[in-house]
Amino acid sequence: MLKGKPFVKWAGGKRQIIDKLKKYIPEEYNTYYEPFVGGGALFFELSPKNAVINDSNEELMNVYRCIKDENKFTRMCSELNHYESSHSEEFYFEIRNKDRDKNKFKKIVDYKRAARTIYLNKACFNGLYRVNSKNEFNVPFNKKDTVNTYDGQNLGIIHSYLNFNNVEILCCDFEESVKTAKKGDFVYFDPPYDSDTTTFNSYTEDGFGKEEQIRLAKVFNDLSERGCYVMLSNHNTKLVNELYQEFNIHVIEAKRNINSNGKKRGKVEEVIITNFENKEGFNE
Ligand SMILES: C[S@@+](CC[C@H](N)C(=O)[O-])C[C@H]1O[C@@H](n2cnc3c(N)ncnc32)[C@H](O)[C@@H]1O
Repeated sequence: MLKGKPFVKWAGGKRQIIDKLKKYIPEEYNTYYEPFVGGGALFFELSPKNAVINDSNEELMNVYRCIKDENKFTRMCSELNHYESSHSEEFYFEIRNKDRDKNKFKKIVDYKRAARTIYLNKACFNGLYRVNSKNEFNVPFNKKDTVNTYDGQNLGIIHSYLNFNNVEILCCDFEESVKTAKKGDFVYFDPPYDSDTTTFNSYTEDGFGKEEQIRLAKVFNDLSERGCYVMLSNHNTKLVNELYQEFNIHVIEAKRNINSNGKKRGKVEEVIITNFENKEGFNE
């Protein structure tokens, strides 16, 4: 079976560590849940027959829905062709600024909004998704003369995969998205990263602070008690080690790939946490 791959570059994307993650996947499971799906690196790699994917980012989940729908998919692609041929710095800011007037923005048809999200991802600095407090996309232009917004073959594979399998696309909070998970289902959490340098009440750009990490650990526990296979990735921080001490914590090395500060790129320690034994047993 041909597998799709992420159609956007996403902060925290898991393409780099996909082989390490795959070592920990349960051999058999029923429905696959991914509550923080982002660019969907592991989701596409596994391409499960039954899945529930979710992210709180409305613009992103709108893209997944449009790729699935026959009509919207075709229209979104022709919109992207038009964006590619109109591409310039001025055009980038014209598209970027469409969310400045919320009433007008809400009225933009979904497939055009989806094309905007993909285009901005490809034409912005470093493929970041960042909005300000007014929910306005504010990433600078990447200063390139040309842009390649999509790989037609890849989007075609994703379109077919989403249509020929049972994939539910949600857009809500992570806790809500796993309410239907049952014994034998597999849930993979890839939340925004925790950091040892942020303190309890410090502001996090993505709104996912320590309290959210604690709430997530409760959900992890609850799913584990329900009999689900649960896996989570995060940075190897003090809080994460405390929260998941009862579970299996595997430390791995990963490359940090999106960081606006070039000096901070490099290797970081991440953890993969599971409530079940991996294929090769615990003695890695
Ligand atoms: C580390 S990224 C996921 C990366 C993804 N696994 C990939 O390979 O691209 C974390 C995601 O969590 C989403 N998010 C943040 N808070 C959330 C919440 N409360 N509920 C659901 N999703 C949330 C963000 O929009 C972001 O896409």
